Amino acid sequence: MSKIAIIGGTGLASIAALKITRREMVRTPYGEPSGPVTHGVLCGHEVIFLPRHGHGHTIPPHDVNYRANIWALKSIGVENVLAIAAVGGIRDDLVPGEIVIPDQIIDYTWSRSNTFFDKSDGPVRHIDFTWPYCEAMRQLAINAGRNAGINISDKGTYAVTQGPRLETAAEVNRLERDGADMIGMTGMPEAALARELDLCYASCAVIANRAAGRGDGEITLNEIEQNLLSGMQKIEKLLEMILPTCRDL
Ligand code: HPA
Repeated sequence: MSKIAIIGGTGLASIAALKITRREMVRTPYGEPSGPVTHGVLCGHEVIFLPRHGHGHTIPPHDVNYRANIWALKSIGVENVLAIAAVGGIRDDLVPGEIVIPDQIIDYTWSRSNTFFDKSDGPVRHIDFTWPYCEAMRQLAINAGRNAGINISDKGTYAVTQGPRLETAAEVNRLERDGADMIGMTGMPEAALARELDLCYASCAVIANRAAGRGDGEITLNEIEQNLLSGMQKIEKLLEMILPTCRDL
């Protein structure tokens, strides 16, 4: 079975059912990953876990060392990655607690180290990114969620903003006109870096709040945390279902 890693996002700094076997600090040419990589067993299957924002959730989206994280996973033999992301919902059906497996990305981030191919000593490479996610992993996640009895949306365009602030209502209107269904801050450059290293990478987005101007009143951290609690319970069930099927990859 090929090795699978789970990148945890806001609300998923640890997986309750994961039996940890060891932690490994992986060195990379790009500096330190968000923390030690956790090796463990989930429902009888080996899995690697890396919380994107660090074990104490201290690294903001624009400061995550995405290159070190992806490089670290590749260097220890990971081939498949399921990345968990908390997002705000723009599309009407994307209400708090819902799960989406996005199929497209629009990148609005800036000033992040977004490629491994920026050295003058190597050939220039332009990856194909027409379909930014690995379809095989997307389908496994969709099926695992449905088999776990979770209502899952199997498509959506993920707008990745720079953060750390949330958007204005006008910005959300513009993102919607651009074709975005949800907004988060961490989807890029993570997905592109994974493609550059030929990892099979998909994202599992949990709706934490209605996007700015789409819900009632202010978006509070408390509301986001409460919504993520129920969303992450669904994610844990999905993870338990997806692991036995990952041997198909
Ligand atoms: N916008 C951007 N990122 C987010 C949001 C949002 O509304 N909710 C969770 N992450």
